[in-house]
Amino acid sequence: MTNPPPARRVVVLASGTGSILRAVIEAAREEAFGARVVGVVTDKDDAGALAIAREAGIPTAVVRLEDFESRALWDEAVARTLATFDPELVLLAGFMRLLGAPVLDRFGGRIVNTHPALLPAYPGAHGVRDALAGGAKVTGCSVILVDAGVDTGPIVAQAAVEVLDDDTESTLHARIKEVEQVLVARTIGRMAREGWTVTGRSVRFGAPTPTPEEES
Ligand code: GRF
Repeated sequence: MTNPPPARRVVVLASGTGSILRAVIEAAREEAFGARVVGVVTDKDDAGALAIAREAGIPTAVVRLEDFESRALWDEAVARTLATFDPELVLLAGFMRLLGAPVLDRFGGRIVNTHPALLPAYPGAHGVRDALAGGAKVTGCSVILVDAGVDTGPIVAQAAVEVLDDDTESTLHARIKEVEQVLVARTIGRMAREGWTVTGRSVRFGAPTPTPEEES
């Protein structure tokens, strides 16, 4: 019997309660998942994600913007901290800050974000509120590759959630998060096991087909 390939190293950045982090940690308990969370980085000392990581025995780091003299220095510290975990994939799971050039230059193309709306509709910090205010009947969640814009990167996976007449931002977000947890875990697992190919704006699972020169 051949051994399975080693699980891909995933580092998660989170600012919030960490429900998506928890879903990925749980999915990764199966060896066949193909990825494992090797580090969790937050920008807040009280992020629920920290407790979830510690409970699972995963190393953590906190890089607070307030501790740096400038945004650029914070960006560099985030990039350095991520690098200590040697990630193959970086997952933003409810990370509420934009990442700057030091992180994008170093890890670009393998940073994944999750957003609680069907992009390109309702980007930004209030995707759920904006979908409600916009009168959407269907919204959902999107897993994207991160680029320098705000929720503008190529879409890897999406799932739809119906908006109910009596929804509030919190009831709708709670239902989106249930779907989002499953979607993110499934997508990270597929990216780890199958690889992915970006052609223009389109992302497909599976390693890029080698060109004839690469094959020879
Ligand atoms: C998710 O809906 C994510 O898309 C949004 O914040 C939520 C994170 O939830 N940016 P949690 O902190 O993982 O519970």
